Amino acid sequence: MKLLKKIPGMVGALQRHNRIVLPRLTFARLVNLCVLGIEMLFRRPKLISKPVVAKIEACSACNLSCEGCRSGHLIVEYPAGNMSTEDFGIVLDKMGKYLFEIVFYNWGEPLMNKKVPELVKMAHQHNISVIISTNLHYLTEEMGDRLLEAQLDKLIFCIDGWSQESYQQVRIGGDFDLVINNIKRFIDQRNKAGMKKPYLEWQYVVTQRNRPELAMARSAAGDWGVDRFVELVDWSQRLDDKSYFNGLDKAWEKMRGKRNRCFWLWSSIAMQYDGNVFPCCHVANKPYEDRIFGNLVSSSLDEVWNGPKYRMARQYLRSKRRIEEGDFICKECNTPPIFIEETK
Ligand SMILES: C[S@@+](CC[C@H](N)C(=O)[O-])C[C@H]1O[C@@H](n2cnc3c(N)ncnc32)[C@H](O)[C@@H]1O
Ligand code: SF4
Ligand code: SF4
Repeated sequence: MKLLKKIPGMVGALQRHNRIVLPRLTFARLVNLCVLGIEMLFRRPKLISKPVVAKIEACSACNLSCEGCRSGHLIVEYPAGNMSTEDFGIVLDKMGKYLFEIVFYNWGEPLMNKKVPELVKMAHQHNISVIISTNLHYLTEEMGDRLLEAQLDKLIFCIDGWSQESYQQVRIGGDFDLVINNIKRFIDQRNKAGMKKPYLEWQYVVTQRNRPELAMARSAAGDWGVDRFVELVDWSQRLDDKSYFNGLDKAWEKMRGKRNRCFWLWSSIAMQYDGNVFPCCHVANKPYEDRIFGNLVSSSLDEVWNGPKYRMARQYLRSKRRIEEGDFICKECNTPPIFIEETK
């Protein structure tokens, strides 16, 4: 019964991933995916299969100080920097064969790195889909043209409000008129070019204050031809009076004491612009130094992916017995619940 209830969500997720996965399917990737599925099922600590998704920080700095974000609250202390085409080329040579998708953001603003369109092209040369999430402040006309020319696959943008007043309560330092102009112009550019890509997703972190403006934002998304509109629950719980959205607390409560079902350790990596690898996007917080699982610019994929930290973390999640030795982030973590209410 429980499984039946999950089916519509699973079908939706599969449809969304189909767009990314199917066009990029090769024989090597299919074989790798099958082996990965089996290894994930048995929770093997040492893997034959390779990661299929990479979350790569194109730029670790950000121009905003969003109230609900770790970057905005300066909890992320990773030194500012941009991914270079040279280092990206080295990483692609090591793992591009297996990757379906690269996500060019973590805790920074990717479009502050002017080379992002070149990075997108490089990923495409390896037949990999690319997604960017942006606060839109750097989506100039020139950047728009370059992203269209690079045939970016998906652009996520975040506008949480329909006036400067409510928008800036979430996006501190943000300029509402600028981001509206930038996205409208970009959609015009895409339409004039007769392109369907990038797929456009509007994310709106809902708070008590911006909820009255939600209908207007959603209606604009429809008018402009945005492909998907997503309402996000504020994961930080700093933006609202807690009683308004208490879903997070309830879900965390449900997870407590349950076995961690995380799949990141078997399927994907999160990498900083300098090649340092974290197991997922939860990391890069203070203190980040001990949480680095390896470096993909200076080491081989196997040295990192099957290195001591990855193996210890997988062993930890696999075993019912608690491993005392070793200090790694997964020890402190329960797979986080994801809250997305969404409408088209
Ligand atoms: C940390 S941002 C990095 C990318 C880029 N700077 C941006 O804002 O899109 C990645 C994602 O986190 C989301 N996000 C930030 N703060 C949030 C919050 N408090 N609750 C839910 N999602 C949040 C953003 O909307 C964005 O989609
Ligand atoms: S723009 Fe993105 S990275 Fe920057 S503070 Fe806001 S949510 Fe965080
Ligand atoms: S920190 Fe948590 S979510 Fe991240 S890889 Fe480890 S167990 Fe998974």
